[in-house]
Amino acid sequence: MRDNNKTKKQLLQELDEVKQQLLLNEKKYRLLFEKNLDAYAFHQIIIDENNQPIDYVFLEINENFEKFTGLKKEEVIGKRITTIIPGIEKTYTDLIHTYGEVALHGGQKRFDLYFEPWEKWYTVSVYSPEKKYFVVIFEDITESKQAAEKLERQVKRRTRELQDSLEQLRRTQDQLIVQEKLASLGTITAGIAHEIKNPLNFINNYAELCEDFLLECERKIDQHTKDIDSASRKDIAGSFKNLKHSTKVISEHGKRIERIIKSMLLHSGGQQGEWEPTDLNNLLYEYANLSYHGIRAQHFSFSAVIEDDFDDSVGLVDAVPQDLGQVFLNLFNNAFDALLKKLETCGPPFAPKLGLVTQRTNDRVEIRIKDNGIGMPEDVAPQVFLPFYTTKPPGKGTGLGLSISHEIIVQGHRGSIQVKSEEGEYTEFVITLPMTAH
Ligand SMILES: Nc1ncnc2c1ncn2[C@@H]1O[C@H](COP(=O)(O)OP(=O)(O)OP(=O)(O)O)[C@@H](O)[C@H]1O
Ligand SMILES: [Mg+2]
Repeated sequence: MRDNNKTKKQLLQELDEVKQQLLLNEKKYRLLFEKNLDAYAFHQIIIDENNQPIDYVFLEINENFEKFTGLKKEEVIGKRITTIIPGIEKTYTDLIHTYGEVALHGGQKRFDLYFEPWEKWYTVSVYSPEKKYFVVIFEDITESKQAAEKLERQVKRRTRELQDSLEQLRRTQDQLIVQEKLASLGTITAGIAHEIKNPLNFINNYAELCEDFLLECERKIDQHTKDIDSASRKDIAGSFKNLKHSTKVISEHGKRIERIIKSMLLHSGGQQGEWEPTDLNNLLYEYANLSYHGIRAQHFSFSAVIEDDFDDSVGLVDAVPQDLGQVFLNLFNNAFDALLKKLETCGPPFAPKLGLVTQRTNDRVEIRIKDNGIGMPEDVAPQVFLPFYTTKPPGKGTGLGLSISHEIIVQGHRGSIQVKSEEGEYTEFVITLPMTAH
């Protein structure tokens, strides 16, 4: 009996010890749960009549959960997520589904999640300690995510910069190739022009000599006029007239070739242009004609009216005539191209016109070159001065004409060049130059 009592006391003591141990363990685990660096939440899943997860209830959360989410224990325990965050079942349908799958079928899941209401990124781990229950562990990765995004943005920016430089390099390379081509073309042109110059001198000189010989023959025949009958006299006079006309044509065209050769030599790049007082009106007139005849040599039936309105007070402008000539030639060639194109579509009632205007204002001169050709669409005009920009078919234009012109006017002559245009109506280039550039 005594022994039995002792056993009971002993048993009670042992029970107490177990209880203490359990309390200690519970405290240990609670501490572990409460003080964990990650946010913990323990839930029960709620399913509908078809066994589909539709909601979940909070059973327990730790301190860091409160800290990460801003939600207090008393606000969440025993409550459904759809009550705490109304509408979550619609915006985060997958989330409830994923939690439900783990709670009902076990296993583990881990994923990154951006939670809009709290504007935070989390790594979420889910596991189920028991069917219908699940634990969610959040790790706040907003900072590292933001740092990664920043890094990504930086990498993207650097990549873009690198691509831009590469593009720039490619453009420079293209430019160099074209410059090299133009340079060798220039050398060839200079060579040909030189070669032609000599025989041309012969033609011109002998054409002049022929005119002299003709006069001499005429004089000699006049002296013997009584020995020739009137019919023969008439015949000879007719032949003389024809000969005179022929030598005149040879002489005129010989001079024209001479002018063309001169400008070919100027443009071949063989000679460096020099600054000199330049008769701007005359230069414009000459190059407009040069370009016009160049076009007409290829399109015999083409004709255009060149209207000029030159201000005489422009006089001599400080310039590199060779470079300015190149600008004018580019502009006129473009203008005649535009006129030809319009003629192709509009037919004869259309009257191609090129207008040249100069105007002096104090120490500047304004040049306006206007054609009533095809004009440009709105998106073309802002690009025409870019190197290699062309609307001509491949192999037809280099797209360098206007970019070189821009460089010559702006950098070379401290002037300005602008374009105005209306599609189907007109194109006008307005150039201003200082009277004294350097
Ligand atoms: N008077 C104009 N009327 C209509 N479009 C024009 C006129 N002048 C220039 N353009 C447009 O500007 C583009 C660029 O002209 P740019 O002179 O630089 O090169 P390009 O004429 O195409 O080639 P290249 O001069 O090497 O033959 C042309 O392709 C054309 O689309
Ligand atoms: Mg051009």
